[in-house]
Amino acid sequence: MDVRLSSNPVVLVTGASSGLGWALVQEMARRGWSTCLVARRADRLQEAVETLASRYPQAFHAARALDLADPDAIHRCTDWLERLGVWPEVVVHNAGLGRFGHFEAVPWETHRSIVAVQVRSVVALTRALLPPMVRRGRGMFVFVGSTSGRKPVPFLATYAASKAFLHHFALALGEELRGTGVRSLLVIPGFIVTGFHEREGLPAEARPSRGQRPETVARRVADAIERRGGGVLVVGRWRERLTGWLQRLFPGEGWAIRMGRFYEQWLPPVSGEDER
Ligand SMILES: NC(=O)c1ccc[n+]([C@@H]2O[C@H](COP(=O)([O-])OP(=O)(O)OC[C@H]3O[C@@H](n4cnc5c(N)ncnc54)[C@H](OP(=O)(O)O)[C@@H]3O)[C@@H](O)[C@H]2O)c1
Repeated sequence: MDVRLSSNPVVLVTGASSGLGWALVQEMARRGWSTCLVARRADRLQEAVETLASRYPQAFHAARALDLADPDAIHRCTDWLERLGVWPEVVVHNAGLGRFGHFEAVPWETHRSIVAVQVRSVVALTRALLPPMVRRGRGMFVFVGSTSGRKPVPFLATYAASKAFLHHFALALGEELRGTGVRSLLVIPGFIVTGFHEREGLPAEARPSRGQRPETVARRVADAIERRGGGVLVVGRWRERLTGWLQRLFPGEGWAIRMGRFYEQWLPPVSGEDER
């Protein structure tokens, strides 16, 4: 692939139209990085790129509206990068979605999108963008996981399992890449106030009372990117650290029972033929 390198290092962030992704591209641009943004909402991306270009004109900013659940999205993304003539040094797999509810009450299309965005597109984009990094002996993949990826979570089963995939993938890849100069960083954020859980359909009562600001999490992720370190970065309060330890001590079955009992009380009523 014929690639013109940007004079500033380039970070590509998926799910950059809102929440943590948008906070992270702003933070990276503030630190002098060029940014490539991917998400579905074209209007939001257009506005984001205009904001970045006016605030941080010393670097290059571009966006591409793509639905990562679409099997052609990765091909379109690499075509776009090729046309731009840039190759990202850091790729942040941040796009994500979930849906709270009984497994069978959630439409198949939603389960399919969760797996397509958080599993298939992550593997495909990593496969497409890794070889040039290995050739250059420099690069980094950042995987935005979740505390849900550390345990089975009833009523968020597909979301939690897709994040568990991401956790294992990030750690295994990091080990494979040892000695290549390319890093793999798994980020496990605690609760962030972004509107993600409203979109997911999780009632306010079921969410932690206090969350982190996306800008705070973005700063921690940007620091880790600039340190070029791999491994695991937990960004949260004492709660996330404590449960991280407990999850190593107790098996998944126990967590499934505990999480199931907790979430069951907040389930939306099931109606019509779905009723149990
Ligand atoms: N909020 C939390 O408490 C929390 C905690 C732990 C982990 N996380 C993880 O953090 C990441 C960012 O979430 P957030 O809290 O910032 O929520 P958010 O504001 O809803 O961000 C999700 C991003 O993913 C994009 N996205 C969703 N579906 C997509 C698709 N099919 N194709 C392309 N882009 C898609 C959305 O953009 P479009 O709608 O424009 O496509 C949006 O930019 C997610 O992976 C989430 O699982 C969040």
